[in-house]
Formats: sequence, C-alpha cells, structure tokens
Amino acid sequence: MSSVTPHVSRFTFHASRVNTLEEEKTSVTRVCDYEGSNYRTEFWENENRGYEDGVERIAVNKMLPPTGERLLEIGGGFGRLVDLYSGYKQVVLSDYARTQVEEAQQYLGTDDRIVYVVADIYNLPFVDNLFDSSIMIRVMHHLTDVPDALGEIQRILRADGTSVIEYANKRNVKAIARWLLRQQNWHPFKHDPIEFVEMNFNFHPRWMHEQFAQAGFQINNKRSLSHYRIQLLKKYIPTDLLIKLDAMVQPTGNYWQLTPSIMVEAQAKKEPHGKISGLFRCPQCHNQQLYMADNPTDEGELMICHPCQIGWTYRDGIYDFKTPQSI
Ligand SMILES: C[S@@+](CC[C@H](N)C(=O)[O-])C[C@H]1O[C@@H](n2cnc3c(N)ncnc32)[C@H](O)[C@@H]1O
Repeated sequence: MSSVTPHVSRFTFHASRVNTLEEEKTSVTRVCDYEGSNYRTEFWENENRGYEDGVERIAVNKMLPPTGERLLEIGGGFGRLVDLYSGYKQVVLSDYARTQVEEAQQYLGTDDRIVYVVADIYNLPFVDNLFDSSIMIRVMHHLTDVPDALGEIQRILRADGTSVIEYANKRNVKAIARWLLRQQNWHPFKHDPIEFVEMNFNFHPRWMHEQFAQAGFQINNKRSLSHYRIQLLKKYIPTDLLIKLDAMVQPTGNYWQLTPSIMVEAQAKKEPHGKISGLFRCPQCHNQQLYMADNPTDEGELMICHPCQIGWTYRDGIYDFKTPQSI
C-alpha cells in the first residue's frame, strides 16, 4: 500500500507473550522501520492521494466513537488523521520511528491533549485497560505477527473499548483479475497472508476476522474502502465526487469484501476492571512503577525501571520506549 520502502529492522526486542524477566527473549520479529523516511512528502504530498485520504477519513468518522477520555493511535506516522480525534480529552500518538513522531509534533503544532510516544506495537508501554479507543491505519500490512499485535491492542483497551483497524485485503477485484489472467502467482482466495514485497502483507478477510475473534474482539462493523483506486478514474473524476461515491458503497463491507482496503470496528470483550493508575509500564518487564530520575542525562529525563535496571527517556516532548538506557 505504501510506495516508500523503509528499511527492514530484523532484530527487535520482542517480549509481549512473556511475563517474567527470566522468560524474556530476543527474537527475530521483523519491523518495517520508517526511521528517517520521507513518508509524508513521498507518499502523500507528492502523489495524487486525496482520494485515499478522503475515503479513510469518511470511514474513521463513521466507526470511531466521537468522544472519550483517551485514545491511542498506533503507527500514527506524522499524525495525518489526528484532527479526527478532537472529541477525546487525551490523544496518545505512537509510532515505532522516532523521526515520524518528531514530524507529527511539527505537523500538529502545540496541543496539550497530545502525548507523543515512540513504541513498538508488540510491546506497548501502556498499562492494561487504559484506552477508550484505539486506531491503527495502514500499519497492519507491515506486521509479521498479527495475533501478537491484536493481543496487545486488546490488552490496552478498556472492556468494550473500540478499536478501528484498517488492513490490506488480498481478495480484492484487481488481485483476482490479475490471478485469473496469470499476471500474479499468488492465490487471492487462499487464507494465509501473502508477503508480496518484503514487509508488505495482504490478508484474506476470513483469516483476519478469525484473528480478531481469537484476540478477544467482537467485530461490530466492516467497511470496504477504495473501490475506485484506479489511476484513470482518479485522473478524470473530481476527487470529491469519487470520495462521495466510495462513501455510498463502503457499508457493503459488512456483506462482502472485494476492495484493497478494509476497515474494521472491533470491540474488546473482557471483564470490567477497577480503577487505573498511571499511564506507562516498562515494555520489557511490565513493571508499572516507573520513577523519574532526579537529574536529567544527555539523553533527556529518565524514567527508571528498577527491576530491569534501565531507564526510558523523555526528551523534547517525546517518551521513548524503544531505546533503553543503562543507569
Ligand atoms: C504506512 S505508515 C502509516 C502512518 C499513518 N498511520 C497514516 O496512515 O498516515 C506505517 C507506520 O507504521 C509504523 N510501524 C511499522 N511497524 C510498527 C511497529 N512494529 N510498531 C509501531 N509502529 C510501527 C511505521 O513507523 C509507520 O509510521
């Protein structure tokens, strides 16, 4: 879906399935790293993408609860969609790439409601049940471990909290036509995900919806997006009209999914919980007692995790839970 080719980071700390320090492991979960990429200009501003942006905005507006205490965006990039979350008292914009978060700070200007966080979806640094809503757009197609990612999203949502998630659909009309014409060797009806370019995955809707169910989500609504993502149509039909035409047929996503992009409104099904204190937990050992060190270091202020004997930085308005500092 994205034309930029960020480099692939092959070794990233990965501990979302484990509970204790002893059990922590370093594995080879691959991450599509946008650090230093020109995603905003290369993909959005220099290309004719008003249609894609417009249809996503319509779907988000229809699916995301309009108000709430706290919302998390995962893989939010430069903050393209943050203006849609004006009904939330606090918005946490997170991304794996610090440079994307820095760009979001510049793009969005001063807004005290926004908390900027560098974080990996597989080890989100937030306490359980923290968010009323979460959103993740154009990120799923970069994820190698969908069950782990959905598990983390379910964990940080409150009971009955809503997640709006977009994924790339392998069973779309163009892929089916290409496969029938033998221009594509992968089968659009097979259920397993297809990595058609390194770190770019398309998913079969049935497989994806099974993953949601297994992670403890109930899907309440599906919209199919980008029915008219065809260069010729985008060139000759006014963008506003094309967006309106797409909006009219998006609800068919509840019955069939044949477009390249599907958006899902999923509700976290879990037991209600008590009062929540604090925002963050250590993404390595899950300790919730992080203490701000008395004196800042060259890397910024340090939030200390005593069990891990490491610190996480807060510098220039950004919490960084990707790069641990020794203390
Ligand atoms: C195609 S961009 C989408 C940005 C934004 N959601 C949008 O639609 O404009 C994908 C984003 O996902 C982020 N990303 C990729 N892997 C991630 C991971 N494991 N954890 C958190 N973010 C990740 C990238 O850094 C990048 O900013």
